[in-house]
Amino acid sequence: MNQDVVNRLSVMINPQTGKTLKEENRIVEMKQDENGLIFKYKRDGISPESKRIIEKKIIDALDGFVAADKINVLTVSENSNDVFKAKPVGPKAPEAKAEIKTGHGPTGQAKKRVANVKKVIAVSSCKGGVGKSTVTVNLGLALKAQGHKVGFIDADVYGPSLPMLLNHRQTKPSANDNKKILPVEAFGTKFISFGLFVNESDPVIWRGPMLGGVLNQFLFDVDWGELDYLIIDLPPGTGDMQLSMIQATDVDGVVVVSTPQDVAVLDTKKGLQMFNQVKVPVIGMVENMSYFIPEDAPQKKYYIFGQDGVKKAAQDLSVKFLAEIPLEVSVREGSDNGEPYMTNTKNEGKPVWESYQKLASEIDHHFYPEKDKGSSPGFFKKLFS
Ligand SMILES: Nc1ncnc2c1ncn2[C@@H]1O[C@H](COP(=O)(O)OP(=O)(O)OP(=O)(O)O)[C@@H](O)[C@H]1O
Ligand SMILES: [Mg+2]
Repeated sequence: MNQDVVNRLSVMINPQTGKTLKEENRIVEMKQDENGLIFKYKRDGISPESKRIIEKKIIDALDGFVAADKINVLTVSENSNDVFKAKPVGPKAPEAKAEIKTGHGPTGQAKKRVANVKKVIAVSSCKGGVGKSTVTVNLGLALKAQGHKVGFIDADVYGPSLPMLLNHRQTKPSANDNKKILPVEAFGTKFISFGLFVNESDPVIWRGPMLGGVLNQFLFDVDWGELDYLIIDLPPGTGDMQLSMIQATDVDGVVVVSTPQDVAVLDTKKGLQMFNQVKVPVIGMVENMSYFIPEDAPQKKYYIFGQDGVKKAAQDLSVKFLAEIPLEVSVREGSDNGEPYMTNTKNEGKPVWESYQKLASEIDHHFYPEKDKGSSPGFFKKLFS
């Protein structure tokens, strides 16, 4: 069976639990021959509505790989056997009125690389609010300070935060002559966000299947120019956007962010499993909000969310531990004021500053290990900057 098809089917999610059918041991059979594809799963406890969602997602995910009329989704349950024969999909979802086109989720075309972009990195977490967007921005700015060309995609369409973090709440992107969207420039980097296309007060009622269309457009219809790193700030979890991203392009590595407390770490482990299943390389884990050092007592460390939770999880999972980032009030203030921490020279040398420098060096070293050989990191850069 085609490995891409297996990968796509392996990440099908039970909408009621957010877990993959595979994780729930529901998959009974996956088979493909000249007559078509059979995907059989245990249906017990899955509502008709969820079943329909699963069927639709299967068709979408296999678009371009298996013709819709060759897909047979079969279910088994203790009460009944049930057969769903996919019909060719009807008209595509209507385009929304936003200035960007919203296609129909994953295109099903073969994965493409983003032109002129050397490495695509995703910043991910299972739990919300652990600091993905903050890490995305400050990691990118640290990479930029180390001499790299950096762009960001805000893939969180429900709660976009890069316009605020990068101080462009009112900016509206324009297009060039080739109808490509021009990314917005901020602090020597470039970014694009769904938040730039809607008013902050607008409710974002967005259809799940369309999310992939937006991401596709951000990847391929934005004039990124040449970039060393394009960093994708993902929404929390392992949902549609993660799946669309994996289907749309080769992600060169994922950085997983978590706070040290047990619940966050537990969720994080699940997220890592998903990336392993779909064979997206995980660069390593970042522990955010590791501890707090009061400004008036810098010799003290308070482990508010517990100590070393992410470090231990990284060890358990044999994943690299990339950096611990302490809690500092100026991180939050910088975010709220649209003046990112790593752009403010008054933070230079502080623990968070040093952590972001280390994180950026670790990421670059991951991709270009030969660079550091023979010289102390940053020595020549300092000399010539
Ligand atoms: N190291 C830190 N020190 C102090 N505050 C921090 C730190 N990291 C993040 N924060 C603050 O924590 C809050 C959540 O961070 P952020 O928005 O980056 O999380 P997120 O994971 O992207 O959230 P969401 O899941 O909603 O996208 C923000 O107010 C941010 O300023
Ligand atoms: Mg965020």
